[in-house]
Amino acid sequence: MPVISQVQQVQIALGERSYPIRIGGGLLDDPASYREAPAGSDALIVSNETVAPLYAARLSQALAARHRQVHRLDLPDGEEHKTWQTLNRIFDALLGHGADRKTVLYALGGGVVGDMTGFAAACYMRGVPFIQVPTTLLAQVDSSVGGKTAINHPLGKNMIGAFHQPLAVVCDLDVLDTLPARELSAGLAEVIKYGPIADPDFLDWIEVHIEALRARDPAALAHAVRRSCEIKAAVVGQDEREAGLRAILNFGHTFGHAIEAGLGYGAWLHGEAVAAGMVMAAELSHALGLVDAGFAPRLAALLERAGLPTRGAVLDAQDNPGRYLALMRHDKKAEQGEIRFVVIDRPGHAAVRAAPDALVRDVIERCCTR
Ligand code: NAD
Ligand code: GLY
Repeated sequence: MPVISQVQQVQIALGERSYPIRIGGGLLDDPASYREAPAGSDALIVSNETVAPLYAARLSQALAARHRQVHRLDLPDGEEHKTWQTLNRIFDALLGHGADRKTVLYALGGGVVGDMTGFAAACYMRGVPFIQVPTTLLAQVDSSVGGKTAINHPLGKNMIGAFHQPLAVVCDLDVLDTLPARELSAGLAEVIKYGPIADPDFLDWIEVHIEALRARDPAALAHAVRRSCEIKAAVVGQDEREAGLRAILNFGHTFGHAIEAGLGYGAWLHGEAVAAGMVMAAELSHALGLVDAGFAPRLAALLERAGLPTRGAVLDAQDNPGRYLALMRHDKKAEQGEIRFVVIDRPGHAAVRAAPDALVRDVIERCCTR
């Protein structure tokens, strides 16, 4: 396992929209972490009522020399606030402060703050720069990287959004110290995801180091964040706007998004829904004859050791598979009402496939707790 003595950097290669992901300890307070921001511009730090008291003053301090003025906005905390109403508060703050096209937005928080701030940056004056300062494991390994930004709609998760790449992503591993254990586990779901879809050796490594990761061992976390970001960077570098390949990053998300929307946003954490969804997608992969019978149980055992649910929620007592299918038809991968699933077709390789409803119904019946 690598020892973390210095800042590690992963580059997202997207031509003129390329940017670095910095990973290491002590980055939050270091003004050099934010050197891509235009000097002399104004800044707005967008955070939430949980994260801001912990870290916003320190970020403000680090930005003081670079920016003319540093403003702050604290949003309500929670997936249920990832809405138009909350997004509007960012626009209100920008307009209220007279923000111009050079104003830099800083997203200080987890994926909810990151997705909303990025979307606001994509829209305000048709696009202003922003920097991701992710403070959850999930945001460091996934949501802050790759430029997907969005809010939820009652009929579907992340349905309203835009692609807008940040200037940089600053992953300070020290901020994970204050993350609740349940949130750490939710982040581990997205870390684990990268193994089946892209790197069987990484899956083996996670199986060996899962306890160290849950104990927040700095070297283990540094490796997990770096490897996850490398895999995501490689995928996004080939398919920024999800014409094809990028969809593999949604392994487990088709079932998972149905759980989140069906139970109401916030009932399960996103990573928890993805964990149960990955087991369902692995079972579907087996039902389609793509992987052997041992694959889904192996994945479920690891997810359980990570402190995650491995069985789906019941969304409808009368016709649970029917409810899942109805919700999954809103999935962004669906084409003309046909649901398309990310399946594993060989170790470390994923594909996007349609599946017969009867097969999917059977998987849902078997994988949900009654
Ligand atoms: P989150 O943003 O709700 O954060 C989880 C909780 O942890 C919140 O209560 C937050 O206030 C708190 N928190 C954050 N950092 C903390 C810290 N350092 N110490 C203590 N508490 C802290 O959830 P999340 O899991 O980070 O992100 C989930 C969201 O990300 C979902 O909305 C999902 O759709 C989105 N997402 C987006 C992408 C993408 O590519 N854009 C990818 C994956 C997930
Ligand atoms: N989290 C899925 C993606 O970024 O494409």
